[in-house]
Amino acid sequence: MTVLRIGMPAGPLRGDVTVPGDKSIAHRALLLGALADGTSMVRGFSRGADVLASLDTVRRLGAVVIDEGHTLRITGAGLELGAGRETVIECANSGTTMRLGMGLVAGVDGQCTLDGDASLRRRPMERVAEPLRAMGARVTTNDGRPPVRVEGGRLAGIDWTSPVASAQVKSAVLLAALRAHGTTRVREPLPSRDHTERLLGHMGVSLACGAGTIRVEGGQRLRAAEIPLPGDPSSAAFLAVAALLVPGSEVRIRDVGLNPTRTGALAILRRMGADIRTERTRDDAGEPRGDLVVRASPLRGTVITPEEVPAAIDELPVLVIAAALASGETRVDGAAELRLKESDRLAALEQLAGLGVTMTSRPDGLTLEGLDGGPLSGGRIDAAGDHRIAMAFAVAGLRAAGGVEIADPECVAVSFPGFFEQLASLGAALGPA
Ligand code: S3P
Repeated sequence: MTVLRIGMPAGPLRGDVTVPGDKSIAHRALLLGALADGTSMVRGFSRGADVLASLDTVRRLGAVVIDEGHTLRITGAGLELGAGRETVIECANSGTTMRLGMGLVAGVDGQCTLDGDASLRRRPMERVAEPLRAMGARVTTNDGRPPVRVEGGRLAGIDWTSPVASAQVKSAVLLAALRAHGTTRVREPLPSRDHTERLLGHMGVSLACGAGTIRVEGGQRLRAAEIPLPGDPSSAAFLAVAALLVPGSEVRIRDVGLNPTRTGALAILRRMGADIRTERTRDDAGEPRGDLVVRASPLRGTVITPEEVPAAIDELPVLVIAAALASGETRVDGAAELRLKESDRLAALEQLAGLGVTMTSRPDGLTLEGLDGGPLSGGRIDAAGDHRIAMAFAVAGLRAAGGVEIADPECVAVSFPGFFEQLASLGAALGPA
């Protein structure tokens, strides 16, 4: 087993970097591109393992993808995508591929089995299966979990209120709604990321969005489009927190997505005292983007409320690392969804106690006492194969006196291939344990 050791760097982190293209938008670009008429161009594709699972998915369903590395040309099969096929989809570690994939295949006459790795096989799928059944698809799960089988067909629009604020549930219903008869309304308890809505609009679909509800008419055809991906703000968050924590650092992260449904972590970090500026902001293909300029800053603890969780959901692990090095107490509430991610992320974060942090966790959150600049003590971390846990603890290693050792660090390639090289290029000290 490979073990990587990340220690305290001799000096500040400095540099001008880019991060992989946005993973959430890339999944949607592939799935919607496959459902469109004509050839869409996706630029800035990252080649993380998750998005490659979606690329494989759309090919199996009948879309033609010319893969030029960072650019993809997707020729869609229109609303007939997947018709009459018996398809097996291997989603690997990617919950987005599975949940959005279920919605994609539900609205056409065909059979599809979707499976994944051991982590994905533990994750709940009824939250998507239920609305799809209500629309008329036949969906079976293995006691609520993958593998999932979808027998698609002629669907009817529904009015669905999701009990969880989940962009994956919302997007799965919207994808099915495109091929359903009549009107679909999806309601969510708190706003989740809206990339599906924005991309559908960019591809010529008319939707009505407002007051927590999205309404769409079935049968609308999608127009192929140019889809330039901004840098992934969830990947950028790891480098941003690294720069905040190492004294004297200054890092520019170029061309990062700044969609307000994704920038919750920036708002929380700024409240903690972080010096993070946005520069060169612009809109492209319906998504705001710009550079982040991050300077090392003393941080203070905060309360992260349930309302703030959806717009910071994937950044919470690294926000907790920032909090562990801030002054005073931090409390995270209403984050039970973290237990249902690639690993139980609240349980994984309890490993901070082994690095010298006083903390307690609850079913939906945690409370910890920050070390006011640290340092943390060192130790070995079990990332449980979870990319964001591996990267969060790698950032912790930058402020750990004994360094942090991460077993199986390769899992970062799920969302951020080259993460460790990027960290090293900024001046981080890392090498084999
Ligand atoms: C995602 C939505 C979020 C997020 C995941 C990606 C998406 O999941 O955690 O990493 O691309 O729609 P939920 O919808 O389960 O909250």
